[in-house]
Amino acid sequence: MKAAKRWSVGNLASLPGARNRVPARKRLWIIMALSLIIMTLSLITMLAIMAYMYPHHSKRACYMISSRGCKALSDWLPPLPREYSDDEIAARVVIREIMSNAPVIRRDSKIAFMFLTPGTLPFEKLWDRFFQGHEGKFTVYIHASKERPVHHSHYFTNREIRSDEVVWGRISMVDAERRLLANALRDPANQQFVLLSESCVPLRSFEYIYNYLMYSNLSYVDCFDDPGQHGSGRHMDHMLPEIPKKYFRKGAQWFTMKRQHAIVIMADSLYYSRFRDYCGPGIENNKNCIADEHYLPTFFHMLDPSGISNWSVTQVDWSERQWHPKTYMPEDVTHELLNNLTSSETVVHVTSVGMGEEIWMPCMWNGIKRPCFLFGRKFHPDTLDKLLELFSNYTRSVSWHL
Ligand SMILES: *[C@@H]1O[C@H](CO)[C@@H](O)[C@H](O)[C@H]1NC(C)=O
Ligand SMILES: *[C@@H]1O[C@H](CO)[C@@H](O)[C@H](O)[C@H]1NC(C)=O
Ligand SMILES: *[C@@H]1O[C@H](CO)[C@@H](O)[C@H](O)[C@H]1NC(C)=O
Ligand SMILES: *[C@@H]1O[C@H](CO)[C@@H](O)[C@H](O)[C@H]1NC(C)=O
Repeated sequence: MKAAKRWSVGNLASLPGARNRVPARKRLWIIMALSLIIMTLSLITMLAIMAYMYPHHSKRACYMISSRGCKALSDWLPPLPREYSDDEIAARVVIREIMSNAPVIRRDSKIAFMFLTPGTLPFEKLWDRFFQGHEGKFTVYIHASKERPVHHSHYFTNREIRSDEVVWGRISMVDAERRLLANALRDPANQQFVLLSESCVPLRSFEYIYNYLMYSNLSYVDCFDDPGQHGSGRHMDHMLPEIPKKYFRKGAQWFTMKRQHAIVIMADSLYYSRFRDYCGPGIENNKNCIADEHYLPTFFHMLDPSGISNWSVTQVDWSERQWHPKTYMPEDVTHELLNNLTSSETVVHVTSVGMGEEIWMPCMWNGIKRPCFLFGRKFHPDTLDKLLELFSNYTRSVSWHL
């Protein structure tokens, strides 16, 4: 220790003085090397500034260096605020205008229950039980894409809207959703819009669902970032510049939406047209973009991210990791299952990264942790009797306190 200190002091004492100066030729070399380094550094700085000034997908900045080098450089730089086309500015002005109108709180506010189905709804009897005694607080709309439904409840008779064919995963699914919204918006009393399929069932009493939705300041639109091939891997370059890849989102289509958001969807033709034209199979490489899984999540993520919950109040079980979620059969429908579904306070999003990495999040209702689910899917038609038998019990369990 002592020795080391003495050594360093001794070393300091013999700093290069006039006697040990570097010979002139050596000095010249050092100066040349230094100026070479400075020149290289300023060239890099210049290129960095140029890459920063030009939009990232512009090739102009890359003529100077290789395109790979340019990409590495522009990825490393902080992102520039992107440029908007005139169409996009116009679309955003309209959307902002609609969003800035404070929603009118009405005494006669209703929920629009919008059913997207091929034909007959297998759970009409259950929904009938659910709606009973709440006349004047809801409206039913049915988009039957294949055949005319046979009804078992007067709440559903003559509630079909004019409909068209729906192909799973294609834009026709989004078109059907828009058709339902357009019809439901015609009634000014409708303040909440719920999209349901034929395999959906209510998990709560009408009163609980009415209060949960009516007093919430959010729309329950599912939305998450899946960086894998079934997530942002489905983004197409054709969607640029309006839809940058980093904004591309995924989510189940089963939403509930407040009136303002439903109007905004009707007002949008720009973002919708990008998905109509470029979200489908075989447009780029082997990508298969599923329109109804990406349009609404991406749209709201870009235009009103804090206005949506990012999860769906319609429960579904993806734990089997198949193409389609688990279908509940009669033997699955027990008091324990319904208890599990109604008490859950966290949701999981399964991504296509690795073996299906999961993202968990708590369900927050106006800043308070609450049960996540109001509806469940997919229930097999044969579960109807079991559900009817258990309905009053499982919807009775929790009362609502605001
Ligand atoms: C939904 O996600 C977006 C983006 O991650 C976030 O900005 C927003 O706050 C989230 N919504 C809620 C209600 O937390
Ligand atoms: C209910 O949840 C518990 C605890 O997570 C689980 O062990 C059980 O298997 C679930 N039952 C059903 C029927 O889903
Ligand atoms: C909704 O309410 C919560 C809690 O009061 C608040 O933190 C949040 O900012 C509100 N969000 C919107 C979109 O109004
Ligand atoms: C209803 O549910 C409760 C628990 O919440 C249970 O103890 C009771 O046995 C159930 N009743 C019937 C008739 O199933």
